[in-house]
Amino acid sequence: MKGIILAGGGGTRLYPLTKVTVKQLLPVYDKPMIYYPLSTLMLSGIRDILIISTPADTPRLQALLGDGSQFGIRLSYCVQPSPDGLAQAFILGEAFLNGEAGAMILGDNIFYGNGFRTMLQAAERNAEENGRATVFGCCVPDPQRFGVVAFDKDWKALSIEEKPAAPKSNYAVTGLYFYPAGVSDRAKEVRPSARGELEITTLNERYLADGLLDVQLLGRGFAWMDAGTVDSLLAAANFVEMVQKRQGIVISAPEEVAYINGFITARQLLDAAALYGSSPYGAHLRSVAEGKVRY
Ligand code: G1P
Repeated sequence: MKGIILAGGGGTRLYPLTKVTVKQLLPVYDKPMIYYPLSTLMLSGIRDILIISTPADTPRLQALLGDGSQFGIRLSYCVQPSPDGLAQAFILGEAFLNGEAGAMILGDNIFYGNGFRTMLQAAERNAEENGRATVFGCCVPDPQRFGVVAFDKDWKALSIEEKPAAPKSNYAVTGLYFYPAGVSDRAKEVRPSARGELEITTLNERYLADGLLDVQLLGRGFAWMDAGTVDSLLAAANFVEMVQKRQGIVISAPEEVAYINGFITARQLLDAAALYGSSPYGAHLRSVAEGKVRY
């Protein structure tokens, strides 16, 4: 399976922070925001990833992440001329996907929880072997900010609505989507919404209508954040600081995920750590390479 990170958008909700950069390059505590979604895709085992961003920011993301060889993966880049909606990623990414199944994660979505890898791998198999799409639902206090899924009494998904004024549940659809082969063809059938965007929710509604959508709930012990507003960006940074300091670990370090997944060797991990100078992040990677972190 291949993966797409959508790292574009106007970012106007974060102005002036995003006046001269996309939000996905802003810090979330000790690392750039894009490290988090990149780690999530890598955690699921995906090694071929397309990063889509604005004309001005694509070269900056490329300067940060390069060709992905330091993570033992292949990174490609694609410019989104204008932000016309999340489903556009699968149209821009059509040649990259080349008819294969594809996962997409929004560049400002941060996931943290035990057992996440197993969930991701199940979603991947569901797409590749069963031809079904998977989205993840998370209970939130402010569902009107998100895509919202409604369920019947057996927790079977009934509907998905984009930013409804009167949400039918508290379950937001997170910005992580797994689709089977043929997703680009379906994305091309999506028509712009009232706000003029090719909504990912419309694409999900299509899979739901055809009985091909599974909603996996992220339950207790799981944290999901989108860092797209001033408050949620700060909350995400505070969360990462708290988890890392209290547990003495670093979360969402792509090089560490690469090492654990067997994408790179301990020697390559040490070389990658050297690129981070004397920072705590670099020190963490060194201690992983030296076998000082127990999993
Ligand atoms: C987008 C999607 C929405 C989803 C959210 C998750 O909203 O349109 O369905 O719930 O991401 O982060 P946006 O953040 O672009 O407003």
